[in-house]
Amino acid sequence: MTLNLNKIREDFPILQTIINGSPLVYLDNAATTQKPQSVIDAITDYYTRYNSNIHRGAHQLSNLATDAHEEARKTVQKYINAEQSHEIIFTSGTTESINLAAYAFGEAFVNPGDEIIVTEMDHHSNFVPWQMLCERRRAHFRVVSFDDNGDIRLDVLERLLSEKTRLVAFNHVSNSLGTVNPAHEIIQMAHDAGAAVLVDAAQAIQHIKHDVQALDADFYAFSGHKIYGPTGIGVLYGKEKWLEAMPPYQGGGEMIDLVTIEKTTYNKLPFKFEAGTPNIVGPIGLAAAIDYINALEFSDIVNHEDEVLEYGRKRLLEIEGLTLYGDAKHRASILPFNIEGIHHFDLGTLLDSYGIAVRTGHHCTQPMMTALGIEGTVRASLALYNTKEEIDALVDGIHKAMRMLGR
Ligand SMILES: Cc1ncc(COP(=O)(O)O)c(C=O)c1O
Repeated sequence: MTLNLNKIREDFPILQTIINGSPLVYLDNAATTQKPQSVIDAITDYYTRYNSNIHRGAHQLSNLATDAHEEARKTVQKYINAEQSHEIIFTSGTTESINLAAYAFGEAFVNPGDEIIVTEMDHHSNFVPWQMLCERRRAHFRVVSFDDNGDIRLDVLERLLSEKTRLVAFNHVSNSLGTVNPAHEIIQMAHDAGAAVLVDAAQAIQHIKHDVQALDADFYAFSGHKIYGPTGIGVLYGKEKWLEAMPPYQGGGEMIDLVTIEKTTYNKLPFKFEAGTPNIVGPIGLAAAIDYINALEFSDIVNHEDEVLEYGRKRLLEIEGLTLYGDAKHRASILPFNIEGIHHFDLGTLLDSYGIAVRTGHHCTQPMMTALGIEGTVRASLALYNTKEEIDALVDGIHKAMRMLGR
């Protein structure tokens, strides 16, 4: 089967937008994806029909909202094949998921002299929280480099792993190069050394079929807005054995069992990690996004995106003076490049004037940019609704910009 691209594009109303007289070519999906009408409708429906606070209400609206919120947890559980729904913690996004894990895992399991390993290609949100944890707990922060193709140096990881390693954190898909890291292999290596693993799936959740049990990930983090859902909602999956042993991240309403002046005891999972009124509608929108994807064949999405990605690589490489970054064994969705003599920001601004939305800069991966010896790139990033015609529009736009800049 193949995707019905016309139908899919109609499902995303924003794709009909005209920018500066040209049809929008939206190639900034690694930053955030667009939302299908069904997600927008689910959010509107919540606010129109049953907006209410959850869990502690004695009235009908509260029960409806609670049911929808908790049903959404089960939808996420099934989507990533977690064993139990209370292993799904709702957060505000990948960033909060990782901060929560770094804080609470650190408090419970990291002591002076221990080691945490991340990679040089990680997003700042899977880098800085671990660095902060190491400073707080006087642990050592270790970083695995990548090779010229943008593949993780597994030999370096092997060397760094030891009985002192408490946790390895890595991104499944790099947001700056599109490298798909060998998650199974990395997790196996870490586990063999006795370390836990956090997978940052922010750029993987929408492109790769997921099964946290098959992966054997200890923690797994992603954001709703990168998988066609709303902003402000994310997920931290954690194996029950870790979550049970970790202290709460924030104190407040909902996360407690009993509060007295002498001592507070905490609620059961997942509520122990969900203090305060949560983003109630976020999971409802996220579940609608997952339902949208589930109604398609996931392998069709992957095949289509891979086809457009490889077409994009081929077309971009035809442009004289263009450097395309990353040639990893497995890649997903990201086209990062620079053109000799043109600043990435200038190119991005000119492309915008032709209706083409890309991102420019370091993409929150400064250590990676330092390793590549560059300040930043232009990044085109794909989602399931992108087409080869949009790649052609990007290439035409680049030629036009180059002419404009006298190149
Ligand atoms: C690989 C990766 N990790 C983490 C994040 C942070 O996600 P959020 O800003 O939704 O918390 C991003 C966002 O671009 C990302 O690409």
